[in-house]
Amino acid sequence: MTTDFHTEQSRREQDLTDRVVASFDSCTNPRLRLLMQSLVHHLHAFIREVRLSEREWQAAVEFLTAAGHITDDRRQEFILLSDVLGASMQTVTVNNEAYGDATEATVFGPFFVEDAPEIAIGGDISGGAAGEPCWVEGAVTDTFGNPVAGARIEVWEADEDGFYDVQYDDGRTAARAHLFTDTEGRYAFWGLRPTPYPIPHDGPVGRMLEATGRSPMRASHLHFMVSADDHRTLVTHIFDRTDALIGSDTVFGVRDSLVKDFESMPAGTPSPDGRDLDGAPWWRVRFDIRLAPATTAIDTRH
Ligand code: BEZ
Ligand code: FE
Repeated sequence: MTTDFHTEQSRREQDLTDRVVASFDSCTNPRLRLLMQSLVHHLHAFIREVRLSEREWQAAVEFLTAAGHITDDRRQEFILLSDVLGASMQTVTVNNEAYGDATEATVFGPFFVEDAPEIAIGGDISGGAAGEPCWVEGAVTDTFGNPVAGARIEVWEADEDGFYDVQYDDGRTAARAHLFTDTEGRYAFWGLRPTPYPIPHDGPVGRMLEATGRSPMRASHLHFMVSADDHRTLVTHIFDRTDALIGSDTVFGVRDSLVKDFESMPAGTPSPDGRDLDGAPWWRVRFDIRLAPATTAIDTRH
């Protein structure tokens, strides 16, 4: 009897899944058909595996509704949700296939701004943002080690209090800029030693993190986006090896290869470009960047 019941229950559940999957059979866009059928397959499997209660389903709908309500031009709660579930990082991983020793990509995050000011090599991105000065240098090459001249490097980071300029209320631009590599592929700039900060956690995603005992903190990092003709655009960060949060970045953005040694330079140490630091201590870090060829991108357009 019990066995029959389970068999009948399972048959009904499977039949429903099959019918919903089949409802997309006549979709003429093969990619859309694949996406929808696979989504239904995995969604139904999840519901069946956890034996989702109707109350839990209702709570999920309320959660998504709250995410919609808090989302506006400046706040994107659905991307945050994707970030903390590792879905953003998994998408980045799938779309930036390993290629030789090309530098690994990581999450884009919500704080990039187009048209950040241009600086010359050796310039300062801080724009008055508070923090400890950090000399960042390296070279951009292809995976054979050939220099990539004229690569555009966008850099952005939070100040020492963990805020990006877009979170200031006076609209000023700070701690972001772009620059271009020289003929040898080299670049250098003054930034700030990165500090840890929480992702926006005053909404439903923050409440979910709290309810599940997870921290909203991101490990200290400095964002880069590097683009050059014929090369795959690289969106990445570097992380500070001494940061205790390296193992628990809430958006799973840390890659071992992106963890760097930020060297502490005692007060009075001459700076690489002769800049007068008023006797203050400073930091330095090296980040050599290897770009994959553009053709390695996966094309899923149909
Ligand atoms: C960031 O690095 O800026 C970031 C990434 C994902 C979510 C929130 C912030
Ligand atoms: Fe960030």
